Amino acid sequence: MKALRIRGYNAAPVIEDVDIPEIGPSEVLVRVTATSLNPLDVKMQLGYMDAFFPVSFPYILGTDLAGTIERTGSRATHWRSGDEVIARVDPGSGGALAEFVIVPSDYLVRAPSSISLTDAAGLATGAGTAWQALHEMADLRPGQTVLVHAGAGGVGSFAIQLARSAGARVIATASGAGLDMVRRLGADQVIDYRNENFAEKVSDVDVVLDPIGGETQQASYGVLRTGGRLLATASPPDGALAKAHNVTATFVFHSSDASRLAKIVKRVDEGALKILVDSQVPLAGAVKAFEHQGSGRAKGKIIVSI
Ligand SMILES: NC(=O)c1ccc[n+]([C@@H]2O[C@H](COP(=O)([O-])OP(=O)(O)OC[C@H]3O[C@@H](n4cnc5c(N)ncnc54)[C@H](OP(=O)(O)O)[C@@H]3O)[C@@H](O)[C@H]2O)c1
Repeated sequence: MKALRIRGYNAAPVIEDVDIPEIGPSEVLVRVTATSLNPLDVKMQLGYMDAFFPVSFPYILGTDLAGTIERTGSRATHWRSGDEVIARVDPGSGGALAEFVIVPSDYLVRAPSSISLTDAAGLATGAGTAWQALHEMADLRPGQTVLVHAGAGGVGSFAIQLARSAGARVIATASGAGLDMVRRLGADQVIDYRNENFAEKVSDVDVVLDPIGGETQQASYGVLRTGGRLLATASPPDGALAKAHNVTATFVFHSSDASRLAKIVKRVDEGALKILVDSQVPLAGAVKAFEHQGSGRAKGKIIVSI
């Protein structure tokens, strides 16, 4: 099979011919229809995540996938060959940027029926992280106000929609073409972060979702109400600053969770959650797509069709 592999940290990803992997009893072999990229894939390639997700080389990149079950292990009795599924494999295992991937059977979720399997590859990490942050950590309530930074990004584009569905008022930051995109996703107020200072335009926010870090995060503590909550996905929050502003600040460490992903699929099939697709490329274009993901300028999800 074809697979996008690296042979060491910081090595250029290369498409290579490799053997189709053998499954264990509780695993399933999925024929991959599409994979979506995440900034994590780039961080994995650079070796930045070695302390959290050590890998062995050669390493096949990719965690988020959609596809069709090819073969099931003897104990993976819940699934049948031909089932259409989505999943996120553990980053330490990787393997999704390939024609076939091994997935533990309890990681699999039935794919949405209302969208293409290719688009469904865009769901797992982006929507999963937004859901974990807003619903499981912030326990977002109707009437609350949420500031979503990077609203046109992979996490932010889902967070806007989930927050709106929860009955919250949504403020989103974006720039350029992203401004219209976040409006269409449901943001009530849009801030052009390149030309406006969000800290001067927003106050008394209940929840900030920060997928940026740095100066954006530093300025975000001050826009929260007393007792408000900052949730950071890119860099750990500053406990001292949080204390000084009387707010809570927590790092979101996204964990794969099939039951959460199933709730996300349900939302998609109800028409309440859409996938903002930045671009779709074939596996041959994955190296270039990888560079685009690394630029930090993606508008929504980059999908690689396998
Ligand atoms: N901790 C976890 O478990 C976890 C889970 C998921 C993601 N993450 C991390 O969260 C971060 C975001 O992930 P993602 O998938 O959303 O990334 P992404 O899709 O690459 O985000 C790109 C978007 O960020 C916007 N952006 C960049 N700088 C901005 C700024 N200063 N203000 C507002 N928007 C800005 C860009 O808009 P412009 O092009 O208009 O600048 C672009 O649309 C990454 O660092 C990722 O690794 C962590």
